[in-house]
Parts: sequence; C-alpha cells; structure tokens
Amino acid sequence: MSDAQGVVSGPGPLQRKPGLEETSFHMENAVPIGGRQAPPCTAVIFGAAGDLTARKLIPAFYNLAKQRLLPSNFAVIGFARREYDDASFREYLESELKGHAPGGFDASVWKWLSERIHYVCGNFDDTEAYVRLGATLAATEKQHGTRGNVLYYLATSPEFFSICARQLASNGLAQEQTGSWRRVIVEKPFGRDLKTARELDKQLHSVLTESQIYRIDHYLGKETVQNIMVFRFSNGIFEPIWNRRYIDHVQITVAETLGVEKRGGYYDKSGAMRDMVPNHIFQLISLVAMEPPVSFQADAVRDEQAKVLRAIQPMTPEDVLSRTVRGQYAAGQVGGRMLPDYRAEPNVTPESATETYVAMKLGIDNWRWTDVPFYLRVGKALAARSTEIAIQFKRPPFVLFRNTAVDKLSPNTLVLRIQPDEGISLKFGAKVPGATLRLGSVDMDFDYSEHFGAQPATGYERLLYDGMLGDQTLFQRADMLEASWAVVNPVLDVWNALPPRNFPNYHAGTNGPREADQLLERDGRAWRPIK
Ligand code: BG6
Repeated sequence: MSDAQGVVSGPGPLQRKPGLEETSFHMENAVPIGGRQAPPCTAVIFGAAGDLTARKLIPAFYNLAKQRLLPSNFAVIGFARREYDDASFREYLESELKGHAPGGFDASVWKWLSERIHYVCGNFDDTEAYVRLGATLAATEKQHGTRGNVLYYLATSPEFFSICARQLASNGLAQEQTGSWRRVIVEKPFGRDLKTARELDKQLHSVLTESQIYRIDHYLGKETVQNIMVFRFSNGIFEPIWNRRYIDHVQITVAETLGVEKRGGYYDKSGAMRDMVPNHIFQLISLVAMEPPVSFQADAVRDEQAKVLRAIQPMTPEDVLSRTVRGQYAAGQVGGRMLPDYRAEPNVTPESATETYVAMKLGIDNWRWTDVPFYLRVGKALAARSTEIAIQFKRPPFVLFRNTAVDKLSPNTLVLRIQPDEGISLKFGAKVPGATLRLGSVDMDFDYSEHFGAQPATGYERLLYDGMLGDQTLFQRADMLEASWAVVNPVLDVWNALPPRNFPNYHAGTNGPREADQLLERDGRAWRPIK
C-alpha cells in the first residue's frame, strides 16, 4: 500500500503556498495532503452516464482534486451511449455532484475539474466509437499534457467487459508505449461462477497483461477495511492471540436496510450470494484471517490473501444443506418505511427464487484457524445497516469466580465496525462497584470520526488514486477471485438443484430467517444483534 507506513495523526488543514488566492483553485505548487500527486493521466470512464460515475467516481476525483492529489495534467473522458457533448455532460455531473459531494460543493474545485472533463458518445461494441475515443484521447493529451497515460474504468454492465477490452486493444488504445502506461479497472461482478470468471480472465489476458488489469472491489476502498491490516500488523498485542488457541469463532455481518431499490433486473439474476460473498465478504475474511505478509508490496499482500482463501474448506452437498441458509424478504417496515415483498419489487419475477439473504458457516483449514468457525451473514431489508467483524475470544478458565455467574458473562469480543458507525470496540469483564463481587461487561471503544474527524469520502478515492499510481495492492488478483468462486460455486450448484420451498422466509425489518439463528444455536452460539 502506497502510504501504509506513513504515520498520520488526523487530517491537517488544507495547505496553500503563499500567494495563491482563496477563491480560485490551482494544482500547480499546491501541497498534496497525505501523499504525492498522481502522475499526469487521462481517466476514461466506460458507462459514464450511469449512477456509479455521478455518485461515486466524479465525486471521488473531485475529492482527490480538493486534496491536491491530482496533477494539473489531468483529464476525464466519459464514454457512453447516451447523447451528451462536453458541455451537457459537465452540466449533468455538476447537478449530480451538488447532491452527492461528501463534504459540500466547492465551485472553484469543480471549475478546475470540469474544465478537464470531456465526453465521447458511442456503443461499446462499435469500432467507429473507439476511433472517436482515440481522437479525443489524442486531443486531451495535447490540451492537458497527460503524456499518454490512460486509466480506463469499465463501469459498464459485465457483458461489455471483454468487448471493451478487445476493442481498446484492436484500436491500439491499450498498447503501452515506452514511458507511458495504460491500465484497465474492471468493475464487479467478475463472472457469475468459477467457469465464467475464468473465461473472462482468459479474454482479458488475451489483450492485456496482468499488470494492466485492476479488478476493483469497492470494499477495499473503505478506510475501515484498509485498517484491518494496519490494526493487526501494527499492534504487537493482538497478533499473538489471533489464532485457534484464543479465538472461539468469528462473525461477519453485512446487514443492509435497503431492499433492491431500482436494481431488480440485475439483482434477480445475481442474488445476495453472487452480489456480496465472493467479493466483499471474502475480502473481509481474507484480511482478518491472512498470515502477516513479508511487506506491503502488492503481491506480498495478495499472496497471503490468496493462500487463506484457498484454505477455506470446500463444501460437500451435505455441508451445503447443514451449513448454509438462504432467505428472501417479505413485506415489512424498515426504519419507518414500508418495503414490499421482494417478489413485488420492480423487475423481479413474481415467483423469484433469488436469495436476498445468505448465512454460512465456513472453516479454514490451516495451522492458525482449524476448528474456528467463521460465520457470515449478509442480507437486504434487515433491521439495521451494519457491517462488522466480531472476533469472539474463548472464555477464561472458570476457577476464580466460582461463586459468580461468570459463565453467563459475555466473552471478550473484539468488534471491528466497518460501517456506518466506524470504530473498534473490545468487550471485557469488570467488577461492578459495591461490597459484593459482581461482574459486568463493559466496552472499550474507539470511534473513527471522533478521533480523526469525519472524512468526506466516497470510498473510491484511494482506489482511483492507487490506479493512477500503479499500486495493485487493493485490487483483486485472478487467483483470489478463483479461490473465492471455488468456495461459492458448490453452494450455488446445490441451491440451484434444490429450489427453496419456503420463500419468502423473513420479513423486511427483522434480523433475517429463523434458520440463520438455528445455524449458530446448533453450535451453542448466537449471532450478535443487528443494530
Ligand atoms: C454492491 C452491491 O457491490 O455493494 C450492492 O452490488 C450493495 O447490492 C453494495 O448494496 C453495498 O455497498 P456498501 O458500500 O453500501 O456497503
């Protein structure tokens, strides 16, 4: 990770060189905050008329500009089917940015960025459109001095990933000339299963080298996710107990309150498993369970992540029946809002067997983790929005507190709160003041925003910045994805062969299906409440 070793104690004020006025925005002579400026380049966004561009990518470039991390030799080209020209594209982005810019809208920063934004209209499979793209790239290079470096971002629907890559290559736009680079960020989902993920990889590799391919997982853009490694490997006190001798089990929860919203068409074909598990959740598992890497170099980190993903026990069909739970929501109230049945959502088939909830018990077969269950659950329309990793430690030996209800006390639990209430807490036992010996559970709590101040960010800043710097640490390697699909695939096969008979099986606004509670009850354990 490019700045993982830097010691930071919170964001400093924006630093300006003397002589620059407050109202206009300059990149020349600006002091970047917390890093060096990215090299000159053009970012080309495929699918630029979609939500991701307006809600995340442009706000992220805007935030990078605000932090002086973009070079003055910078440009963005939007490429999509919708008919815009430079002016109308900029106008559309400006109105969206006003709604989505975390931390408010600064007209001078937007002016700086918008002057560098261009648009090419075309179909992703139309060679002519790539000829126009090539001409626009040449023009921006001349106008903005971007030196032939290009970061392509495939924010299209997945069927276009390999088409775009092939067109780029056959039109000479993916070729790296001496002294310049061409990189391609590929959005998720990367395949629908192991077979299609391998095929996509083969197609990309037929026109690009691995060092040009950046498979993005936006969970790795989250500060709290990046902090998992920092927390584990920069603190001497946790690593010695981070293993099967001290840890009873690990619970990973990704609970969302939203239903499928307007994404029924995509989601009904995907389901919670494909949408969240082999990507976001397995990233979390790999960071929690990996061995310490020998350095923070991209491949050193990713080697360890891949190793632990390969160590996850593959499930037999019997395991799938006893260790996995799927669910689909029925109508219910979530946070004062009434959600309809999943099957009544727009673009969802009325008989849909698609799961909106998954719970699983996984085992990791290696020296550190054998016999430590990793329970994970993920779902839409649940009681609260909460993503967290809870490490539950073993109970202490019993002897000292014989006359107290020590067995009723909560065991030590370390909770890494990923979102929305970012922080880390450690639960431990303490004496309740008074003449008799009574024990209570208390929390030691660290709150990110309280300590470091709220950081206006979309979560894409770091990933785009690393893409420009050529740091692949936070991007997935093909073997990591394959290892993840290898775990998920047997589950999908069994689910596919045995359509669910009890859907819908949980109400919106609850903690999910009853079977998920039973999954842990059978092991004498319980989920933490979702709140
Ligand atoms: C996306 C999924 O990758 O991640 C969505 O497709 C999901 O279904 C989203 O809602 C969750 O991301 P976040 O950052 O809100 O946790």
